[in-house]
Amino acid sequence: MTSSRPAPGARIASRLGISDRVFAGPRSRRLLAAVDAGLDRVEAELADDLRVTSPVADSASRYLLEAGGKRIRPMLTLLVAQLGSGGTDGVINAAKALEMTHLGSLYHDDVMDGADRRRGVPSAHAVWGNNIAILTGDLLFARASQLMAGAGERAIRLQADTFERLVLGQMNETVGAGEDDDPIDFYIQVLADKTGSLIAAAAASGILFSGADPDLEDPLRAYGEKVGVAFQLQDDVIDLSSDAEKTGKVPGTDLRAGVPTMPSLLLDRSEDPADRDLADRIRAGQARVIAGEDPRILDDEIEQLRDSAVTGQTQALAARWAGDAKSALDALPSGAVHEALTRFADAVVDRSA
Ligand code: IPE
Ligand code: IPE
Ligand code: MG
Ligand code: MG
Repeated sequence: MTSSRPAPGARIASRLGISDRVFAGPRSRRLLAAVDAGLDRVEAELADDLRVTSPVADSASRYLLEAGGKRIRPMLTLLVAQLGSGGTDGVINAAKALEMTHLGSLYHDDVMDGADRRRGVPSAHAVWGNNIAILTGDLLFARASQLMAGAGERAIRLQADTFERLVLGQMNETVGAGEDDDPIDFYIQVLADKTGSLIAAAAASGILFSGADPDLEDPLRAYGEKVGVAFQLQDDVIDLSSDAEKTGKVPGTDLRAGVPTMPSLLLDRSEDPADRDLADRIRAGQARVIAGEDPRILDDEIEQLRDSAVTGQTQALAARWAGDAKSALDALPSGAVHEALTRFADAVVDRSA
């Protein structure tokens, strides 16, 4: 490769927003070099796989891919695959298909959440309108299925089952908890479905397609799902962040649009008078935004929510889920992969973007 190629590990560390200490030691560095080589292939091939003859579809389908993204799902697949034969063609194929599925879900999610920015650029619907954004998401799902189809029935089933859970998670989030549901438990299940399912599939794929010990599939699936819940809880905290530069999203998007997040659910449940007052003001602001007022009327409330105890509680909850994810690794042999997965779980809750 050219001299502009980053040193092994440098890219992943920056993608995750974690320091070199996570991958300290010669054993981890070798591991990282292997994962990085796989990620380079994923990156190059994804750009090719997303070519389309129609010019609008061609631009739209690679738009968010080229805008950025952390690539944590393919990274996880490649990391787990080091328990088997590493980044084989089958592993790369699955990693690409799952990242494509994630990518497609972002096009749809931004339409649903009314989010104007993604990965530091205007979201697809802000550029092309809802119809093209939705159709591009569909196109990405179709391409992801084509990739999995080449790997046989097991892979197709993994893709279909994962996608079903992701969709039902988004659907349940939209419909909301029923009268008999505990809102917090319901929300955790939404997170497990909409985000945990895909991260679980990414971890499981690292076993399934690398020829690693099949007994490791279930523990890795459990690890991925719990990491996914932790990741999404931390995302709720990041959504309140004031640093749009870092997150590439508009701060407080979910809150302004009335989309539930863990801090707002905990606030609704709090009996502290100051929390009750903030919850009332947020609800009133959301109603005004829905009626067409400028979403910025909620700026003060977002800042107060960010500084309130419920946001700290959300972070603590994320750390607990990351801890449970690490416990799921007990079945794994000790070694560099085990170590890196432990640090990965810590990194997803210790990130600001
Ligand atoms: C964003 O996922 C959507 C969620 C499931 C929270 P990521 O935070 O992994 O998004 P990118 O791929 O880095 O943009
Ligand atoms: C995204 O969830 C989950 C999926 C796309 C399946 P969010 O709506 O919470 O994530 P961001 O904050 O927009 O990335
Ligand atoms: Mg969203
Ligand atoms: Mg959403």
